[in-house]
Amino acid sequence: MKKVLAAAGVLAPAALLFAAATAATAPKEPLGLLPIIWPKDNPYSAEKASLGKTLYFDKRLSADGTVACSTCHDPKFAFTDGAPVSTGISGQKGGRSAPTVLNRAWSNSQFWDGRAPSLEAQALGPVQNPIEMGNSLDGMVKTLNGIAGYKPLFSKAFGDGEINADRVAKAIATFERTVVSGNSPYDRWKAGQATAMSQAAIRGYHVFQKAECDACHEGQNFTSNMYTNIGMGIDKPEADLGRYVVTKQDGDWGAFKTPTLRDIEHTAPYMHDGSLKTLEEVVDYYDKGGTPNKNLDPHVKKRNLSAAEKADLVAFMKALSGTGWRGIAAPTAFPQ
Ligand code: HEC
Ligand code: HEC
Repeated sequence: MKKVLAAAGVLAPAALLFAAATAATAPKEPLGLLPIIWPKDNPYSAEKASLGKTLYFDKRLSADGTVACSTCHDPKFAFTDGAPVSTGISGQKGGRSAPTVLNRAWSNSQFWDGRAPSLEAQALGPVQNPIEMGNSLDGMVKTLNGIAGYKPLFSKAFGDGEINADRVAKAIATFERTVVSGNSPYDRWKAGQATAMSQAAIRGYHVFQKAECDACHEGQNFTSNMYTNIGMGIDKPEADLGRYVVTKQDGDWGAFKTPTLRDIEHTAPYMHDGSLKTLEEVVDYYDKGGTPNKNLDPHVKKRNLSAAEKADLVAFMKALSGTGWRGIAAPTAFPQ
């Protein structure tokens, strides 16, 4: 008994204090969102989030200093780029639309096909992607080491001034977990404020259920975080097969990660290929039953919604625009 207590005496208080400090300092999630579970090996600190924000907006992470994370995930467009597909270094275009960084804290796997298992694992991908930021990790670390102003920021965030790729990833991921959207009219309505949502949006909420949108866009973040085939672009000659490319499982053929619908009003154009320009087009796409194919999810089928129901459904989706991310803007000055 004594021995156990002694061991606990050595280990538990430090662990407990650490957990308490994390819980105490992380910003409170807006109404409607569950508490963020911060990874044990990358807990929240204000210093790390602040460093991550600076790195996120700093174009010098790219090979020629022209592209930052924020180029394609811009707060002005609710952390997307407002284009069907993104433009990276030297004007090169990729094949997929930039998803929002909003509310990524509530899912582990990242990318339309889920190929990155965490935000930390995701963050270094674009830096090295030849058509996004075109750099190498060594190149990035060398650049950052050459900017005297970064060393003290790494010191504050990590305890010493060493700059390495792992720390860059951890800092950026910490910042990304603070980019959240909640406290929308829907959240306030759900919390009991009867007039927080318009009558049209309330009717649309029921259409959302009737049309089984919530089979996939479910829960607090309006996503099951699962991969499903809604047929988007599957009839194109060189169709993107999505999750199948990663797993080679038949069930994943043409399946993409179900995206959040929070702040969806601000992240047009829509879908992994950016092919639908408006929420009205999205609703029409589902109403006609998607694009028939061998793996189409059974929840996507012809609905014959009336014009009024369609308009209400759009009104509901617009009631998912929230706060939490709105004050976030590029730093006015970068370390020199
Ligand atoms: C040139 C444009 C571009 C740049 C620069 C860029 N991204 Fe992206 N980002 C994309 C595209 C396009 C995707 C989707 C790619 C895919 O799914 O295959 C994506 C996906 C993501 C995702 C996954 C979101 C989700 O819903 O799964 C995150 C997170 C992300 N980027 C963060 C970052 C960070 C952090 C940086 C900087 C280190 C960055 N991006 C730089 C275009 C860009
Ligand atoms: C079978 C699961 C499923 C059902 C049912 C479903 N969705 Fe989706 N939704 C998805 C997937 C997966 C995507 C991304 C597909 C892609 O890009 O190829 C998506 C994309 C979207 C987008 C675009 C998101 C973005 O960021 O580009 C909107 C808006 C949307 N769905 C609304 C709805 C509405 C409204 C309904 C009901 C009429 C609905 N969804 C039903 C799985 C589903």
